[in-house]
Amino acid sequence: MTMQLKPLGATGVMVPEVGLGTWKYRGGPEPLRRGIALGANLVDTAEMYRNEVEVGKAIAPVREQVFLATKVLGNHLRYDEVLRAAEDSLRKLNVDVVDLYQVHWPNSRVPIAETMRAMEELADRGMVRYIGVSNFSRAELQEAQRAMTRHPIVSNQVLYSLKAREIEAQLLPYCQENDVTIIAYTPLADGSLAVKSRLRPDRRFRELEQVAREAGKTPAQVALNWVTSRDGVITIPKTNSVARTEENCAASGWRLSPEHVRRLEEAYPA
Ligand SMILES: NC(=O)c1ccc[n+]([C@@H]2O[C@H](COP(=O)([O-])OP(=O)(O)OC[C@H]3O[C@@H](n4cnc5c(N)ncnc54)[C@H](OP(=O)(O)O)[C@@H]3O)[C@@H](O)[C@H]2O)c1
Repeated sequence: MTMQLKPLGATGVMVPEVGLGTWKYRGGPEPLRRGIALGANLVDTAEMYRNEVEVGKAIAPVREQVFLATKVLGNHLRYDEVLRAAEDSLRKLNVDVVDLYQVHWPNSRVPIAETMRAMEELADRGMVRYIGVSNFSRAELQEAQRAMTRHPIVSNQVLYSLKAREIEAQLLPYCQENDVTIIAYTPLADGSLAVKSRLRPDRRFRELEQVAREAGKTPAQVALNWVTSRDGVITIPKTNSVARTEENCAASGWRLSPEHVRRLEEAYPA
């Protein structure tokens, strides 16, 4: 199965619709390297995850193939703090440039214009290629966009899965209309859209399993494919295992039928 690519904002750069998340990643180099080899070459980390050294080592032999994303912590958003955090991330990742640098969380105590001035400075200095945000509402994103003077905001990384469809009301349509790629995090709802709960039977999961059987896919693949079936949405599941990395990468390169999408959305309403 070939990994499907999608445009990153209006940059003209293409990124895989399934990338690799690393929050609580403990897999060593192999799962990330296997994912990159399968075309899931967007690797997402963060200052907060405290694994930039490990991620940097994993991608080192294949750095040129990787679209590397990291984030500045939501309480490091003063101008000087952003510059310092970016320098630290580059050092830990052992790279000269990060492809996507994201503001991890909005912080109402720091004017967004101050943060974005620092983000633009990093882009001007060539330390980051593109600027993104994360966990920004539509209003927060619009405010951040108004603060930009030279560079666009290309992405907003937010919670999105069959179990968490809140962005569909306002944020998703706004981003689709304004060339801001949604990077959907926790797309497997922490694994509960991949593996049946042993604690309590879930009627909704039974429908997901049924759709998966009919489509000849696994529940995880169906859950990921549903997320990426939206225009302008890519996703970054996390797994420590090579086998699950292969499974998640094979969530790309095909599409659920409209009938399957309808049944999933009925089982997991917005
Ligand atoms: N920007 C933010 O504020 C924010 C917040 C949360 C997450 N994120 C990003 O989004 C990434 C993904 O989100 P997430 O880690 O919260 O949740 P997730 O990807 O929805 O779920 C991860 C969990 O699912 C399991 N899993 C993965 N693939 C599976 C498969 N094929 N079959 C069965 N189980 C599977 C993993 O277990 P194993 O590892 O044991 O396989 C892990 O426990 C993060 O790693 C991070 O990069 C960003």
